[in-house]
Amino acid sequence: MRGVFLLFVLGTLYGCNKPYDSDCSTNPGLFDAVNFNIGVAVSLTELENNTGYATIVKQQFNQITPENAFKPERLQPQEGTFSFEEAKQLLAWAANEGKEVHGHCLVWHNQLPAWMQNFEGDRQAWIALMKNHISTVVAELGSVKSWDVVNEAFEDDGSFRESIWYRHIGPEYIEMAFEFAHEANSDALLFYNDYNLASKPKKLDAVLAHLRQLVNKGVAVHGIGLQLHINIKSPGKGALEKAVEGCIGSGLRIHFSEIDISVNPSGGALGHLENKLNKQAQTVEQLTQIYLSIPPAQQFAMSFWGVSDANSWIPAYYGREDYPLLFDQNYRAKPAYCALRSALGQ
Ligand code: G3I
Repeated sequence: MRGVFLLFVLGTLYGCNKPYDSDCSTNPGLFDAVNFNIGVAVSLTELENNTGYATIVKQQFNQITPENAFKPERLQPQEGTFSFEEAKQLLAWAANEGKEVHGHCLVWHNQLPAWMQNFEGDRQAWIALMKNHISTVVAELGSVKSWDVVNEAFEDDGSFRESIWYRHIGPEYIEMAFEFAHEANSDALLFYNDYNLASKPKKLDAVLAHLRQLVNKGVAVHGIGLQLHINIKSPGKGALEKAVEGCIGSGLRIHFSEIDISVNPSGGALGHLENKLNKQAQTVEQLTQIYLSIPPAQQFAMSFWGVSDANSWIPAYYGREDYPLLFDQNYRAKPAYCALRSALGQ
């Protein structure tokens, strides 16, 4: 009894009032108990060469998102020359394992091939370039069920990002991109995907207003992806609930996309890692509860941005120690995994 009390006091002191397990069952997989997808970002190299990694993807998730393989620099490295080998191998892997594929991403300002960045032409030529890329990719990768059509088109203050697409075509590029994708595959679900939508309300308002306008015009926009590159302190439960409320009001499908929860956002010394992993577990539990509160018709997927802490983009990108995912570097379940399982009702 005294031990339980001590744990309670310690937990409360560290901002988290229960300790989370890390030796829960891993069977059946995460996707088993719910009617929406539980997805993960993957790399073909890891799926083919890393047994621990591939086993987790097969067992736990029912949807994959290629982390980099569907980006323009990979799919159209030279003007008019497409390279679909890796993408098709991923589709074959997914078909073989019975996994759905979420395509990421058709129009973005990053990971563009050099020729595209340096392209010179008038507005019509830029529209033709964008159309050719979208139409070719969406048609060729026809088994992809859903796409991030436009990624990160807004700034945090709600203004349009001045990407090459915006500068050469104007804000209409967003609508056009959805139309071209829909023409190429009218069965695919089409998403707008962006980050900081819970922490920057002005950004979310601008995105929702724009999407609403497109939907009202009859443009095939089916969903919004809230990238959840978050951390154990921010944006917090209230901000996330508020953002989700706004998204529910839009009637769009809601994708909790690119989930990772940094335990070391400021990049300093990590200190009490166990407490931070516990806080991470609490954060994933909260966001799952919020996702479960969305009307079922608007639930699409909760997708994690990588399999294990060994595969996350964060340490290399920010140059810091961090452990943002559900499995540790040795592919063992973390408290966040167990918290997710239990929040999903397993
Ligand atoms: O493939 C090359 C390799 O040939 C080369 O030797 C190596 C040396 O740097 O780079 C490799 O490319 C890296 C690529 O990931 C594949 O691993 C790039 O440097 C690296 O910049 C790239 O990072 C990706 C990042 O997007 C680029 O912006 C991350 O893996 C990927 O997780 C990240 O994902 C984005 C989403 O698409 C959109 N939302 C934000 C999210 C995180 O930044």
